[in-house]
Amino acid sequence: MIHRHLLIWASLLAGAQALVHAQDIFNFRPIIGVLAQRPPDRMVAGLDKNYTSYIAASYVKYLESAGARVVPILTYQDDAYYEELAGSLNGILFPGGAVPITSDSGYGAAGKILYDYVLSANAKGIYLPLWGTCLGMEMITYLSSNNNWLTYCLANNIANSLDLQDGYVDSRMFSQMPATTILYLRTLNVTVNFHHKCLTPQNFTESGLSDQYKLLATSRDSLGMEYIALLEHRDLPIFTSQFHPEKNPFEWADDTNHDSIPHTPEAVESAQYFAKFFVNQARLNIQSFNSKEEEEGALIYNYQPVFTGSTSGFVQAYLFLNHSVTSTRGRETNAAPPESKQQHPAAAASPTQESNAIITTIHQAKNRALKKLKIKVLFYNKLKNALHSRNNGTTNS
Ligand SMILES: *[C@@H]1O[C@H](CO)[C@@H](O)[C@H](O)[C@H]1NC(C)=O
Ligand SMILES: *[C@@H]1O[C@H](CO)[C@@H](O)[C@H](O)[C@H]1NC(C)=O
Ligand SMILES: *[C@@H]1O[C@H](CO)[C@@H](O)[C@H](O)[C@H]1NC(C)=O
Ligand SMILES: *[C@@H]1O[C@H](CO)[C@@H](O)[C@H](O)[C@H]1NC(C)=O
Ligand SMILES: *[C@@H]1O[C@H](CO)[C@@H](O)[C@H](O)[C@H]1NC(C)=O
Repeated sequence: MIHRHLLIWASLLAGAQALVHAQDIFNFRPIIGVLAQRPPDRMVAGLDKNYTSYIAASYVKYLESAGARVVPILTYQDDAYYEELAGSLNGILFPGGAVPITSDSGYGAAGKILYDYVLSANAKGIYLPLWGTCLGMEMITYLSSNNNWLTYCLANNIANSLDLQDGYVDSRMFSQMPATTILYLRTLNVTVNFHHKCLTPQNFTESGLSDQYKLLATSRDSLGMEYIALLEHRDLPIFTSQFHPEKNPFEWADDTNHDSIPHTPEAVESAQYFAKFFVNQARLNIQSFNSKEEEEGALIYNYQPVFTGSTSGFVQAYLFLNHSVTSTRGRETNAAPPESKQQHPAAAASPTQESNAIITTIHQAKNRALKKLKIKVLFYNKLKNALHSRNNGTTNS
């Protein structure tokens, strides 16, 4: 029965071959949300406004360089704002930084809502990937274990190699990694760390996090203490690194607190792999904003990064005011209606205007068709998965 349906769906999808590439990649225009946080006082002191949150531009460039666009996720917004964004994005990144990982910070409060959303979306069969870097990893382990299992360590401003753990080869993250990159990561000090807290392998196990996550790699702090460097969730598209891959290609501070960032070709190439990997994960998600206007209103292009290299460890940052955005839907309502573009109703439509109108109509029809197609692809995938687990005798949903 299921087989027959599968065939029907497969034939319906005959026209969708352009979308159905190897490894089920459907989305070639992925958009990833990056969470903001309160800026260091020193960074804001020299600026024109009392900005209340920031995103280091290196995270944006890192994702952009692998073929994604970025949407900033602001702090202190209402739940609807986070839920609508999370339902429109193709992936979410929790960056590093220096704020509480609990709900005491805007970052922590938003992080919890987004993390919960990622879990429930994935439970419903929506493949929504999440990456946490440094503080972002610490927050994810905190949220996943309902407790803080971190301990103080000496791993600030230090470049390390990775000690790859048993079974890393079979992980999603490493299974596609070029052998040369694996060699760089395990033999050269190409990953850079800026943290004062560590998750030890002992606490990784004791906390039960080991039931949820696969340990891919560890590093050692300045005193030789082993700590967790890289995790991937056993079932869900959740990935974390304690080190900072975005810094190798994009951060240039070289004062005594930041002089360990490796910029060698090997370090940059290794870092780029992680960007490509995560953006590829986002390509597996086909969520989208409700309209082009909504998408444009949300993208990072609405903000300009500023030079913050003399007041922080970040060469450039995006800064935001603590304004309330309520929800993207609300913003859409406030936007000028498309009709307002037709300023001169009396003027006769020129041939160019007419053909533009036709092109627009075709474009809209194409988008509607594409959207329907994507829904079918999603349905087909669910069916395929159902079939998979049936054949395997599992009852996982
Ligand atoms: C920022 O806020 C402080 C007081 O909280 C005020 O003295 C200062 O002028 C403000 N700076 C700017 C640029 O608005
Ligand atoms: C931002 O706004 C929220 C809610 O209005 C407030 O609770 C929070 O303290 C503000 N944060 C900053 C850094 O001003
Ligand atoms: C384990 O976590 C606890 C906090 O929950 C911390 O006090 C302790 O130092 C950690 N132990 C190790 C070995 O990391
Ligand atoms: C990497 O760093 C460690 C400790 O900081 C050092 O002992 C080791 O020689 C370095 N390895 C390379 C290949 O530079
Ligand atoms: C069943 O699961 C195993 C291990 O998870 C996998 O290797 C195999 O391909 C699956 N078989 C089918 C028919 O899905």
